Amino acid sequence: MDTVLAFENTLTAQDLALLRKAGEATHAAGIRMYLVGGSVRDALLGRQVLDLDLVTEAPAEEVARILTQPLNAQVRARSQFGTLKLHAEGRTLDLATSRTERYARPGALPSVQPGPIEADLWRRDFSVNAMAVALWPDNFGTLLDPTGGQGDVQRGVIRALHSESFQDDATRILRAVRYATRLDFRIERRTLGWLKRDLRYLDAISPPRLRRELERLFEEVDAPGCLRLAHRLGVLSAVHPALGHPGLRKAIQAARRMAPATQGLLVLLTYGCAATEIDSLSDRLGLTNEQRKVVKDTQSVKALEPHLTYPRLLPHEFADAVNGMAPEAVLTASLLASDRFAQSRLLRFVDSWSRVVPALTGRDLERLGVPPGPLMGTLLDELRDARIDSRIRSKQAEIKYVKRWLRQVQ
Ligand code: CTP
Repeated sequence: MDTVLAFENTLTAQDLALLRKAGEATHAAGIRMYLVGGSVRDALLGRQVLDLDLVTEAPAEEVARILTQPLNAQVRARSQFGTLKLHAEGRTLDLATSRTERYARPGALPSVQPGPIEADLWRRDFSVNAMAVALWPDNFGTLLDPTGGQGDVQRGVIRALHSESFQDDATRILRAVRYATRLDFRIERRTLGWLKRDLRYLDAISPPRLRRELERLFEEVDAPGCLRLAHRLGVLSAVHPALGHPGLRKAIQAARRMAPATQGLLVLLTYGCAATEIDSLSDRLGLTNEQRKVVKDTQSVKALEPHLTYPRLLPHEFADAVNGMAPEAVLTASLLASDRFAQSRLLRFVDSWSRVVPALTGRDLERLGVPPGPLMGTLLDELRDARIDSRIRSKQAEIKYVKRWLRQVQ
């Protein structure tokens, strides 16, 4: 018996109406349209369907032309694989022609050829992502499931479709980790064997692709959970040996406490790395300049740590040393620093010292008789330092300080 999805509570009424219209319009032109991939998986799980990924066996350009009038649709973007982004009724639809893929070598982008819908489903990463739903009038909602994805959704299993899947595209290793964590599924035994066997194929993935895939992992609601699984499976150290450092478990636990965004997670992962490995790691991950700075600053904060605990280092001296560093680096170092005193100082810096400014402005100083020029900047710095050290606590005290300073220099 065919499974028919009603999309109750998983599609908004507008999206449902849009899909029906798209299915009808293409059907009238003799074309069968399907909803595919993660959207079908999420619908089966009773989760809200966010992306509308559509596939037909006809060329996507032709389908776009057919949809232009009934959906008032416009093409917004075209990809190298012939997929289109359509804008229709305030919504983006991803439109693709069903295809087969061939990987010339591991990690290479595949060469694609049009192919039947079943072949398109078989070329995909996991059975749970390899289902389609018919959208034409007589069959609307009927599930097409050649690989047994529905059973795997019910059993809560991530299963690759053939033994070379991770060799063809090792980003699927990171995808398996993401889906297993997000859906709370287990990675099927054979798939797990292939995944572990093929970890070295991660080397074949280019830095930009690796970064994109890691960023997707960092964006997951349970990113720390993804990292914990990736660490357990040896995925992180396969990405780069520097990510095999002994502090990683503690760092991932800290991530659970702070729910950080991408930069914060990068800091957590790299805090325990050897400073000498940071450049090679940043190259491997294809980090952006901003991400590189955060990772570098993390090492600088870590290197400062022993000095932070030196009892005579005044708060403002400490603040000067940390000033200009990426806030994520300082905040995260405060979580991982081994010394409690250093930890509390780093936190104080983030929470208050980095924000301290004197109550008096340059204009106030002029009124008090300070001549404009570089000395004024020095005086403002002194006031800020005195505030950080709590030697000055009020505007009145600042004025007194300035007057005394003037007496000394005049
Ligand atoms: N896909 C694949 N192999 C990849 C990437 C993608 O087979 N390396 C297929 C999967 O069938 C996937 C679909 O392309 O379902 C779309 O990919 P993507 O948008 O990355 O994933 P979604 O399934 O939409 O999942 P998510 O919920 O993470 O967006």
